[in-house]
Formats: sequence, C-alpha cells, structure tokens
Amino acid sequence: MEAKRAAGELAVEILQDGMTVGLGTGSTVYHSIQAIGRKVADGLSIKAVATSIHSEQLARQLGITIIPFSDVEEIDITIDGADEVDPDWNLIKGGGGALLREKIVADASKRLIVIVDESKVVRQLGRFPLPVEVVPFGFELTERKLRALGCEPKLRTADSQPYITDNGNYIMDCEFGSIANPALLAEELHRIPGVVEHGLFIRMAAQVIVGRPDGSVYELDRKQP
Ligand code: 5RP
Repeated sequence: MEAKRAAGELAVEILQDGMTVGLGTGSTVYHSIQAIGRKVADGLSIKAVATSIHSEQLARQLGITIIPFSDVEEIDITIDGADEVDPDWNLIKGGGGALLREKIVADASKRLIVIVDESKVVRQLGRFPLPVEVVPFGFELTERKLRALGCEPKLRTADSQPYITDNGNYIMDCEFGSIANPALLAEELHRIPGVVEHGLFIRMAAQVIVGRPDGSVYELDRKQP
C-alpha cells in the first residue's frame, strides 16, 4: 500500500501546466490520480484522458478535466501501473482489465511512466498470467489457438459470468510460466484473428518508478541493449 502510494505520488511531480496527461488504471495509479486532484485544486492546469471508465469517474470526482480521446492530438505523459516489469522495461499489463485502452493511450503518449511496487519487478515476464483481450464471437477457437502457443488460458469471470471489458470483449488470462521472448510472443498473439490486444507492452515505457514498502522509491535501471 505504502509502496504503491509512494510510486504513484512521485510520478505526478513531473506534471506541468498545459500538459495533456494519460491516466492509467489500477490501485497504484489511484494514488497518482488522487495526487493530481490535489494539484489541480491547488491550481495545476492540465487536461486528461482516462484508460478506463473507473479512472475517468475518479478523475472527474476530483475535479480533473477529462477530454475525449478524439480531441487529443498527442499526450504529453501517461502514468500507468503494471503487473510485471522486466529488465528491458517490457511489461505485462491488464490485471485490471484495461489493457486495450491502456495500450492505445500509451502509444499516443510522448512518455509512458510506469509505477509499480517492488513485487512487480521480475527477471523474466510470465509468472503473472498474461491478459489477452478477445472477441466474444468464437472465443473457444481463440482459446485453442492461445493454448497452442504454450500457455494455459483461463476465461476471466466476474460473478460466475465472463468478465466484460470496457470495450465489450472477454479476457483470457494465459499462464505461460515464463516468456523467453516477449517481442516474438507479441507478434504471434497478434496473428490470432480473435485476439483484439494483449497485455505485453514491449519497450513502450520511458521510465519505471518502483516503490518500496517503507515508502522510499527508486528508478529501475534499464538493461543496456
Ligand atoms: C490494469 C493494469 C494495471 O496497471 C495493472 O494491473 C497494475 O494494477 P495495480 O496498480 O492495481 O497493481 O494493467 O489493466
């Protein structure tokens, strides 16, 4: 809790008047949105786009100006969490189910700042089941094709029903165990027609801020290419 708060609050220190800011989704970004709300109340002038209905509602409650994505030319900074981060700053995202909008917003951003607690930093991605957003039509076939890539896919549920994303799709949580080549897997996943998007964010992060339980933070060094 303290680790997430520390990372989430530090990330917002970089925000300046006039910026367009992408708001991620999850319990770490929650602290960033709260901190942005306090800054806005103190006079910071920014516009924001949200990666989920949940983050949008929270931001509006705090007085943060939300603009439609269609009005955005470029996003200056997006702050978002992750489920795993590797030494190349590749990510697994989507534990909160918002991976599609998160990737669209990250791709439109000049700078993606990732905020995590220490438990998310791993040597190799894959222990956290990889979320894959799939079209409901024919999802059984998509599931078989995902299994053929070497994982055990599980349809995400909520209240014993398929979990529905903000985009009306399903999520398959795919247990790979370890992912030796995330970039190759990302390409393979995109070749499956029923896959809308997956939670591998390959070299999209510009900075990774890590929070520790004692409330201290550090920036994760990136492995040299
Ligand atoms: C949501 C995400 C989140 O960023 C990820 O699940 C991390 O969440 P949290 O900050 O709650 O640990 O990708 O789709």
